[in-house]
Amino acid sequence: MARRALITGITGQDGSYLAEHLLAQGYEVWGLVRGQANPRVSNVRELLRDVRLVRGDLLDQGSLISAVEKVHPDEVYNLGAISFVPMSWEQAELTAEVTGMGVLRMLEAIRVCSGISSSRTADRSGQIRFYQASSSEMFGQVRETPQNERTPFHPRSPYGVAKAYGHFLTQNYRESYGMFAVSGILFNHESPRRGAEFVTRKVSLGVARIRLGLAGELRLGNLEARRDWGYAGDYVRAMHLMLQADAPEDYVIGTGRTHSVRELVEAAFTAAGLNWEDYVVADQSLHRPAEVDLLCADPKKARANLGWDPGVSFEELVAMMVEADTRLLAAGPDPAQATSWP
Ligand code: NAP
Ligand code: GDD
Repeated sequence: MARRALITGITGQDGSYLAEHLLAQGYEVWGLVRGQANPRVSNVRELLRDVRLVRGDLLDQGSLISAVEKVHPDEVYNLGAISFVPMSWEQAELTAEVTGMGVLRMLEAIRVCSGISSSRTADRSGQIRFYQASSSEMFGQVRETPQNERTPFHPRSPYGVAKAYGHFLTQNYRESYGMFAVSGILFNHESPRRGAEFVTRKVSLGVARIRLGLAGELRLGNLEARRDWGYAGDYVRAMHLMLQADAPEDYVIGTGRTHSVRELVEAAFTAAGLNWEDYVVADQSLHRPAEVDLLCADPKKARANLGWDPGVSFEELVAMMVEADTRLLAAGPDPAQATSWP
């Protein structure tokens, strides 16, 4: 019988790539969708035809229990979150509820549906395996570079704090109940399906608009921040590998290379044959109340234990996104107001 996976955050970037990856591995894939008339659900129906949908919301404990009872998953991937860092200052309580407490509700749904009592169970056979989407934002004001699984956390946003709660809770359920519950500490990963609000996609869409004569400038915030950017399609492979391991352990996933936003911008404009300095406008209002200046992964453990390596380089990723957005905008209306899916 096919293994069953339940994915929260199926309408997001990672949900789509993970669903495709698991379907290709022969899984029966279920996606949790929320809301009465969520416009992104039609994207899933169109692009991920073989994914089955189940209703539920990370804010609603009962709905998660019902979803787990209905699907009977072998694996649960908790990707649902408020994931845009600036929004977490504007709606800090909601971020805590969805991105933080949502992890508790999902773990409780699994625990209750699996009949796991308060005593620790050593036998993990037949258990539902749980993946939590932790984030390099937890490192925040970094204590060392590169960051690995032992680097202390110092989150710099309500989002980072909520992720740290979910991370420690996942570890706690593993230690308290013997659950196969793990976190992937993923560094920034991008693709043509990235939300238009994130900097890589904002830049690739901006370059495409300028290239096609649809815009004359691109306004950006802090150009000096550095990130370890990889390709989302590579990172979902790591999520799956973590749940196939013999022992439940947390892993850092990233490329081990860091670039500034300025370098990202330069690479994207160069890919389109343009000079970035002619178009980019620095906008102080886009700076954050507290910035994460530098992120760079040390993915040695994932390479050694999981055999995971990123396939797509930074330069290939940037060129892929610029080309995809140029094709997208040349073919039809600007998607920035609606979906950012290709
Ligand atoms: P994304 O595109 O922003 O997707 C977020 C997903 O969360 C959407 O499907 C959204 O669904 C769902 N969601 C929001 N509120 C929800 C709720 N109350 N109940 C259930 N689902 C809800 O994020 P992503 O880039 O794919 O990232 C996936 C996960 O990895 C997130 O947890 C993110 O924080 C984490 N992460 C991402 C990165 C990265 O660089 N991409 C790095 C580290 C960690 P709706 O359509 O219903 O809004
Ligand atoms: N979004 C955005 N827009 N960011 C900008 C801009 C702009 O106009 N100008 C400069 N930046 C800088 C931000 O200040 C930040 O330092 C960097 O670009 C990256 O911003 P985002 O792309 O919004 O991503 P993020 O690093 O804050 O968060 C993403 O990665 C995390 C993992 O480290 C998100 O995907 C999080 O959900 C994820 O956990």
